[in-house]
Amino acid sequence: MPDIDDQLQKIAQEIHDFDDSPLTAYREKNDYQPVPGEGNPRSRVLLLGEAPGKKEAETGKPFMGSGGKVLNDLLESIGLSRNDVFITNLLKDRPPENRDPKAAEIEAYAPFLWKQIEVIQPELIVTLGRFAMHFILDAFHHPQKDKKISDIHGQLLQGKADYGDVYILPLYHPAAVLYNRSLEPNLKQDMQVLKVFLEKTSRK
Ligand code: URA
Repeated sequence: MPDIDDQLQKIAQEIHDFDDSPLTAYREKNDYQPVPGEGNPRSRVLLLGEAPGKKEAETGKPFMGSGGKVLNDLLESIGLSRNDVFITNLLKDRPPENRDPKAAEIEAYAPFLWKQIEVIQPELIVTLGRFAMHFILDAFHHPQKDKKISDIHGQLLQGKADYGDVYILPLYHPAAVLYNRSLEPNLKQDMQVLKVFLEKTSRK
């Protein structure tokens, strides 16, 4: 079995070569890069955002803009850095004008995400925002899948992946704080759930 880094590198290459993507033409026209994800692939935790923005598409790295700064601060508030987790998105290419991802785009990129999850085998998937939350809860046929993010953010939910049990922690999207400051205390408090989770024994 190839090394975990090699496996992720192979997936990143597949994303790069993905010509049928609904967003490839836009990527090429703007000289953007795909954004497969980065961080520690041996982490117990995978953070799942929505889609790359302009800064991310320019650098090929997730969460590099103002939302990324909020995310870095949130991680720091519980003593973590970006290198302690693996960070990726539902879409691996930037949608035009940062519009919401379309269902067909989410579906087109989903196989890459599932391959990444299969390789990393996270114990906890932290969903950032409603799109990532609904995608994961739908995929796991979770009983809370039709709930709103305002009802279930910060709750540790249980799911079953092919490789074993997996927890899901829905959080508000870090960039939401930039538009609605009142969400900041919620996000900070919900990060404590992640901290407590990490203090528990691990299967890794
Ligand atoms: N928002 C996201 O959901 N992901 C990024 O990588 C950047 C902003």
